[in-house]
Amino acid sequence: MDQKKNKKIYIETYGCQMNFSDSEIVASVLTKYGYVAAQSIQEADIIFVNTCSIRDHAEQRVKKRLHHFRSYKKRNPELIIGLLGCMAERIKTVLLEEEPLLDVVAGPDAYRDLPRLLEQVESGQRGVNTLLSMEETYADITPVRLGSNGVSAFISIMRGCENYCSYCVVPTTRGQERSRDAGSILSEATDLLKQGLHEVTLLGQNVNSYRWVDGGKDLSFAALLLQVAELDPRLRIRFATSHPKDISDELLNTIAANPNICRAIHLPVQSGSSRILDRMNRKYTREGYMERVEAIRRIIPGCAISTDIITGFCDETEEDHLETLSLMEWARFDYAFLFKYSERPMTLAADTMHDNVPEEVKDRRLTEVINLQQRLSYASNKRDLNRVFEVLIEGDSKRSADHFMGRTSQNKVVVFPKAGIDTGTKPGHCVQVRITSFTSATLLGEVV
Ligand code: SAH
Ligand code: SF4
Ligand code: F3S
Repeated sequence: MDQKKNKKIYIETYGCQMNFSDSEIVASVLTKYGYVAAQSIQEADIIFVNTCSIRDHAEQRVKKRLHHFRSYKKRNPELIIGLLGCMAERIKTVLLEEEPLLDVVAGPDAYRDLPRLLEQVESGQRGVNTLLSMEETYADITPVRLGSNGVSAFISIMRGCENYCSYCVVPTTRGQERSRDAGSILSEATDLLKQGLHEVTLLGQNVNSYRWVDGGKDLSFAALLLQVAELDPRLRIRFATSHPKDISDELLNTIAANPNICRAIHLPVQSGSSRILDRMNRKYTREGYMERVEAIRRIIPGCAISTDIITGFCDETEEDHLETLSLMEWARFDYAFLFKYSERPMTLAADTMHDNVPEEVKDRRLTEVINLQQRLSYASNKRDLNRVFEVLIEGDSKRSADHFMGRTSQNKVVVFPKAGIDTGTKPGHCVQVRITSFTSATLLGEVV
């Protein structure tokens, strides 16, 4: 019998949604070769860590984790440990020197090669492949859904990024931007529908630049979104991430015309100061961003807008910071991911600018944006009080099995009691919920 049949793999994933989606591709590649998924890290013969390099903190966490795995390897010298993803791409040489326990190092475009790399390990060598590709989109690979709630799934529609925001490591770790064959995206969505899933999220670093040219047809992201939306009016569709410089009216009109495309747009602004945006190489100004927010509000009333912000970027003055705070107030973001600038080697900012905002100033500014966002999220939830929303049930509430948890089209979490609702109601069903109370993080309600 093939030895591999007994080998159990455990994949631990860090970083963005795309990395979670990639782990499902890794699982698919390996299960085809007879490996099986381990139910827990303890029973694994192979541990893969799929890593993120976006901030220094993300890399430090993984390094600690690898350190921890040394004791696992002492107990079981046969254990294979592999590092995947962006960190593997960025610092392979350092890692191979510093971490003698690493058997496999594979970058984001090398996952098809994992079976061969594992065979190399079996023959006593290390398996290393960090080549980036211009074509790889894993289009033909059906991901094995890991940790699925049976309701929603990710579909990766493009890879890489060529925007070269000056602070960002992604163009280096993920390589050239490439779109995935539209036909394969539609058939993956169709398969998910057949399996009974109710929501898909289309993923890419900048989905607005999706483009697929085939047989005289030129498909934009808006056109792709429409085709996915038309598969079934009951399928909910989300997407991330939109770059403010090219979120088009065509896209906004497509969302407006299709109720099953969710009313939630993630539009990272990064800074409210045009001077800093220019240094960040974001290719839009404060006013340009505001114009896009106005267009969203005009074309898709009731659409939630969330964002990402970096505080303390090179040369950011107090005035720049105040502009970020005032833009946040103006935009009334429903939700935001807030970060402190972390210099990344080999980026334009690291090469040509000074990371000159003192740590304590970065911290203070971050606290200020966090406090403001908490107030904005609270106000956003308050506006929902007494309103009725369609909620797609994802499962039990974390706190109580007497409550369901689900999401509105605006991507807000709603918790409501099961008591009194139709006994056949289960995850995957949509119910109408009136919001009766809230915190800054969650809406509470009851089915109407
Ligand atoms: N492609 C997406 C973002 C991907 S990274 C976009 O263009 O918006 C997710 C977020 O991490 C970014 O939006 C940014 O806010 C943050 N980020 C990226 N590089 C960073 C760095 N060097 N320091 C701090 N935050 C960073
Ligand atoms: Fe990074 Fe900018 Fe690309 Fe987003 S668009 S992944 S922030 S380079
Ligand atoms: Fe991190 Fe790579 Fe995603 S750096 S944010 S895992 S693309």
